[in-house]
Amino acid sequence: MDSLNSLIDKLEATSHLTKDEWIALIEHRDEESAWYLFEKARKWQHRYFGNRIYTRGLIEFTNYCKNDCYYCGIRRSNQKAERYRLTKEQIMECCQSGYDLGFRTFVLQGGEDGWFSQEKLEEIVLEIRKNYRDCAITLSLGERSKESYQRLFHAGADRYLLRHETADPRHYQSLHPEELSSENRKQCLWNLKEIGYQTGTGFMVGSPGQTPAQLAEDLLFIRRLEPQMVGIGPFVPHHDTPFAKEKGGTVELTLFMTGLLRVMLPSLLLPATTALGTIDPTGREQGILAGANVVMPNLSPVSVRKKYELYDNKICTGDEAAECRSCLNRRMESIGYQLVIDRGDYSSQGAAAGNERSKDKCMM
Ligand code: 5AD
Ligand code: FES
Repeated sequence: MDSLNSLIDKLEATSHLTKDEWIALIEHRDEESAWYLFEKARKWQHRYFGNRIYTRGLIEFTNYCKNDCYYCGIRRSNQKAERYRLTKEQIMECCQSGYDLGFRTFVLQGGEDGWFSQEKLEEIVLEIRKNYRDCAITLSLGERSKESYQRLFHAGADRYLLRHETADPRHYQSLHPEELSSENRKQCLWNLKEIGYQTGTGFMVGSPGQTPAQLAEDLLFIRRLEPQMVGIGPFVPHHDTPFAKEKGGTVELTLFMTGLLRVMLPSLLLPATTALGTIDPTGREQGILAGANVVMPNLSPVSVRKKYELYDNKICTGDEAAECRSCLNRRMESIGYQLVIDRGDYSSQGAAAGNERSKDKCMM
């Protein structure tokens, strides 16, 4: 449809669409408009990043969680989840093997686990900072107070990932128990930005009850927040959660949303997620060809991999970090891209820098 392509043109020219325009584009998307969108997404991806794909080594260090999100396999009510915590020494070993493989960004991700007190977390961050001065430390520890974020930043963390999950408060409430709120989650993100973290947000595609209007809200929120990274992946049901029988998100819609994000904020870091690779064997490659530019292989010890099961059939749970690394190398090369190992810093101004489109220069 011509009108769809002209909305994509408008998005490219101005980086803004109204809510109704977003809804129309998402609701009426078809193969032709997706093709048109992905071509533009790749144009901007190449302009900012060439054929380089950034890697972040993920360390899933605890699957204890005090939260009870209805979609998540490690929610506290899932008694069947086998719980584990890595020791500080194990975390340091993961960093070392990651470093030896060339990773220069470590992502410490875990459930909201009070056993890791503020002091323990700061100690871990300090230790990583001391041993790996040239690496970026990314945290993904859920919702915390501004003071806690501040102290972790001071200890040496530079990036934080916290998906907003869905920007619509009513939809948020249908995915989470009452004690969690969309408002608090968004406030955490504003706090992280204010402190100076390079901030990542994101949402699940196809989560139960999601409508095009809610996806429009997600894009509007991201446009306002101007994060440096946005992680999106399909919702994948987990058999031991209240959403076990719900339908999962599709590759098609996840790719379309990826393309929209790339054209809206061209310098964004956009991972081709493990969830996308889980629902389609070539999901991550398709994600890259729709505009993504980051992959996040797992550095956790293989003995605990299977236990960090947020959703069913998660890939890479039996593979050593080195295997994932060479697997991803091959996969990226097969579509004409190349894994790079530096920190992938580009600009402290955030993705909004990408809106100075007339400059046409690479921010790396
Ligand atoms: N399917 C897909 N993604 C999920 N996440 C949690 N549970 C699921 C699921 N069942 C995502 C959430 C969370 C991130 C760490 O993993 O978006 O923020
Ligand atoms: Fe882990 Fe392919 S990326 S095995």
